[in-house]
Amino acid sequence: MEAIVANVLKNQSENLCRERITTSKKKKVSLSSKSDRNDVWAKEEEQKLPSVEDLIKLRPLTDKNVLRCLEARYLTDNICSKAGITIIVVNPFKSIPGMYEPVQIKKYYEGNCKALPPHIFATTDNAYSAMKLGLGQVNQSIIVSGESGAGKTWTTRCLMKYLTSLAEYNPSGFSPSPVHCIEKRILDSNPILEAFGNATTQRNHNSSRFGKYIKLQLDRSGFIIGASIQTYLLEKTRVVHQGPKEKNFHIFYQMLQSASDEERTSWGLPLHDSTQQKIFNFLPRVEVSTVESSLSNTREALKSVGINSKQEDKIFKILSAILHLGNISFTQEEDDDACDMDESASVQESLRMSCSLFGIEEEAFSKYLLMRRIAAHHGNRKSVFMKPCERAEACNRRDCVAKLVYSRLFDWLVSFLNKHTTAKHSYAFIGLLDIYGFESFSFNSLEQLCINYANEKLQQHFVSHFLKAEQDEYRNEELTWDFCQFTDNQPCLDAIEGKISVFSLLNEACKLNRSSDPSALRERILSSISNPFVSKKLKGSKQSSGFVVRHFADEVEYTVDGLTEKNKDYIPPELTEILASSKNLFVRTLIQEDIIAQKKSRSSNAKVPVKTVISKFKNSLDELMVTLRNTTPHYIRCIKPNQQCTPGVFNATFVASQLSACGVIATLAISRSGYPYNYNPMQIAACKGFRIESFKVDMDSSYQNCKLPPKESCQALLEKMCGLDDKENELPGQRSPYKIGRSKVFLQDEQLAKLEREREQVLINKAVCIQRNWRRLMRLKIDRERHMAAVTIQAGGDDKVYFALPS
Ligand SMILES: Nc1ncnc2c1ncn2[C@@H]1O[C@H](COP(=O)(O)OP(=O)(O)OP(=O)(O)O)[C@@H](O)[C@H]1O
Ligand SMILES: [Mg+2]
Repeated sequence: MEAIVANVLKNQSENLCRERITTSKKKKVSLSSKSDRNDVWAKEEEQKLPSVEDLIKLRPLTDKNVLRCLEARYLTDNICSKAGITIIVVNPFKSIPGMYEPVQIKKYYEGNCKALPPHIFATTDNAYSAMKLGLGQVNQSIIVSGESGAGKTWTTRCLMKYLTSLAEYNPSGFSPSPVHCIEKRILDSNPILEAFGNATTQRNHNSSRFGKYIKLQLDRSGFIIGASIQTYLLEKTRVVHQGPKEKNFHIFYQMLQSASDEERTSWGLPLHDSTQQKIFNFLPRVEVSTVESSLSNTREALKSVGINSKQEDKIFKILSAILHLGNISFTQEEDDDACDMDESASVQESLRMSCSLFGIEEEAFSKYLLMRRIAAHHGNRKSVFMKPCERAEACNRRDCVAKLVYSRLFDWLVSFLNKHTTAKHSYAFIGLLDIYGFESFSFNSLEQLCINYANEKLQQHFVSHFLKAEQDEYRNEELTWDFCQFTDNQPCLDAIEGKISVFSLLNEACKLNRSSDPSALRERILSSISNPFVSKKLKGSKQSSGFVVRHFADEVEYTVDGLTEKNKDYIPPELTEILASSKNLFVRTLIQEDIIAQKKSRSSNAKVPVKTVISKFKNSLDELMVTLRNTTPHYIRCIKPNQQCTPGVFNATFVASQLSACGVIATLAISRSGYPYNYNPMQIAACKGFRIESFKVDMDSSYQNCKLPPKESCQALLEKMCGLDDKENELPGQRSPYKIGRSKVFLQDEQLAKLEREREQVLINKAVCIQRNWRRLMRLKIDRERHMAAVTIQAGGDDKVYFALPS
C-alpha cells in the first residue's frame, strides 16, 4: 500500500487535480480535469469501477482496486463496505435517505446480516448476537475510529439508536416502560455531551473535543437497562483560546443566540442579539452555525435526563460568568513589574458580573488575580507572603479559573448522566468507543499530543488483536502461510510513552519543577530519545522549533512552548479557595473534589507526587485498554473522502493514505490469505457431531464405522466436503479452503457456511423425523381408542347403546 500511496502522491504533484466528482443525477463519474488522464488508474477509466460489498472478494485484490471499489460504491451512495473483520464507512457528508431509519434497524435485526449489504447495523447486530449467545467474552466493544471529521460521532449515535430500539422488535413484544424511559435518557445524553464538549475546528464543524466510551448495559433478555459514560480529557484550553478559524464550545453560542430577554437579564447577558458583534473575548468568532443554534434541543435533552429548570438556570449562569471572566483585562506600565486591573467601566462591570454570578467577593477575587500567594518553609516554620503578578501571569490566573470551572461543569454533567442512567447490576455490556480523531495542525500542543497518542494506542490494540495475533496463531499452528507485512506502531508508542520518552521527559520537567525554558526541553527530548520516530523536523522542511513524532497516520510537529505548564495544569490554591467560599452552592459543589485534594496535600507531610495531565490521561487510557482487552472487539473505520467536507467528492490520495495508515490494506491481505474461523477438531468432530453425521450419510460405510480420533475424522470430513485435502487444494494464487494445524482446524467463510447449511439440514431432518414419529404415535393412539370404543359397542354389554332412527 505504501507504494500505491507514494505513486498516487507523485501523480498528484504532477497533475494537481486528483479529485473525482460525481454528477449526482446520472451517478456517473466525471473527471474534474483532463489532466486526470495521467491519473493512477487512468487506463482503466473507461472500465466499470469494480463494486463488491466485501473488499476481500476483489479480484485481483490490489490496492488500486480497493480504492476504485470504494470510490465506485461511494459515488452510488453505498458508503459501507466490508474489509475482513472491519466495516469501512466513507462519510457521505449528506443524508442518505432511509439509511439509518427504523425500517433498516428492523431489517438488520430480523434478517440474516450476512446476506444483507454491509452496514454499521450489521456490525452492531454481530456484537449484540455474540453478547446474547455468550460465546467467548460476553461483553463487547465497538471501536469506531477515523480521523477528525470522518464520522465517528455520527456513527456512534446511529449505533446507539440501533441498540436502544431493539426492545421494539423483540419477538416477545414486551418492553417494560422504565426501559423505554432509560433508552430515551441514554440517547438524550448525546446532544448534551455534544453541546458542552464539541466545537467547530478547521477539520470538522462538530468536532468532539473529548473522548468517550459508552457502556450500554443489558439484561439477560437483551434489553437495555442502563448506560455508563467514561469521558477522556476534555480540551479545556478551548474555553479561553481557539486556534485560527476555530471556535469555542457550541453551548456558548447556543446560549447567546437563543436565550430569551428574561433569561438574558437573569444570566447577565446583553439584551440585544449578542451574536452579531464580538462582545466576549472568549468568543472571538461571532457567526453561528446550525449546531450552535440548537439551544432548544440541548434544553430538551437536559430536561429529559432529569436536570430541572433551577439546575439549568445555574448552569447557564456559570457559563455567563465564564464569558464575563474573559473580559477582565489588566494594565501594566512599561517599567513596572506588576500589573493592575483595567479601570475601564466595561472591565469593572465584567468583574462585577462574573463575581456576582460565581457568588464570590469581588475584592478578594481581584486581589488573588493580581497577586500570587507564596509559602516559604523555614524548618518547622512556615511564612506566607503575597507577590504581585505581571500582566501575563494575571491573565493566566484568570484563564485558569475559567478552564477549571468549565471542565468541572462538564465533569458534573457526565456524573449526573451516569447517576441517572447507570444500572447497578447488568448481565453484560456493549461498549461504544468514540475517541477524538488523529489531528495535525500548523500549531500542535499537548492536546494534539494526547489525542494522537490515544489514536496510536487504539491502532496498537487493532494491530495486536487482529494483525499480530492472526499471524502468531498461524505460526504456532505450523501452517505454511505467506506472512503478510504490516506496520506495527509499537516503536512509535515506545517513543511516546516508554521509559525514556516524550512523556517521561515532560513529566520529569514537571516533577523537578525545571524552568520552563522551551529550547532546553526540546534539546532534552531530541538528545535523550534515541528512536527514529522522534526527530528534529518534518521530512522536507528546513527548520523547526519543536519536535516531530512519526505517527502511524502522519508526521506531526509539536511545539515545546508552554508544554510543561499545560502538563502541570497548576491551579493556584488561593483561587480554588475563593471559589470554595462562594455563596453559590452549585459553584462549591463543582470544585468540591479540588478542595478535598488540596486539604489532603496540605495535611499530609509526605510530598504528594505531581499528577500531570499526561499521567492522568495515560492512566485512563491504560484502563480503557484493559476494558477493551476484556471484551470482544468489533471495528468500524470511518473514512473522510475529502478535506473540504463536501458530498460527492472522492479524493483518492487522501483516502489511500487513511486506508494505509490504519492498516486496512494489511487487514485485507491477512483476511484474504487467512482463515477467519478456527475451531479445535473436537468442536467440529464431536461437539458439532451432527455436521459429521450429515456427511456420514453419503460417506462410504468404512467412514461411518470408523473410530478415528477427532483430528483425523475432521480431515476425512473436510476432504469429503471439499473433495481434496488441504495441500492438494492449494492452487497457485488460491488458498486452500481449509487448513489443519497442530491443534486447530481453520476454515474459510464458504466452508463454514457449507457446514452450517449441513447442520441446518440435519436439524431440519431431525425435526421432520420427530414430527413424523409424533404424528404416527398420535394416530396410533387415536386408532387404539377408536378400536376400543368399537369393541365396546360390538360387545353390547350391560350398557346398551341406542341410536335414534331418523323420522
Ligand atoms: N453516515 C453519515 N451520513 C451523513 N453525514 C455524515 C455521516 N457521517 C458523518 N457525517 C457528517 O460529517 C460530519 C462530521 O462527522 P463527525 O462529527 O461524526 O466526525 P468525527 O469523526 O466524530 O470527528 P471528530 O474526531 O472531529 O470528532 C457530521 O457532522 C455530519 O455532517
Ligand atoms: Mg466526533
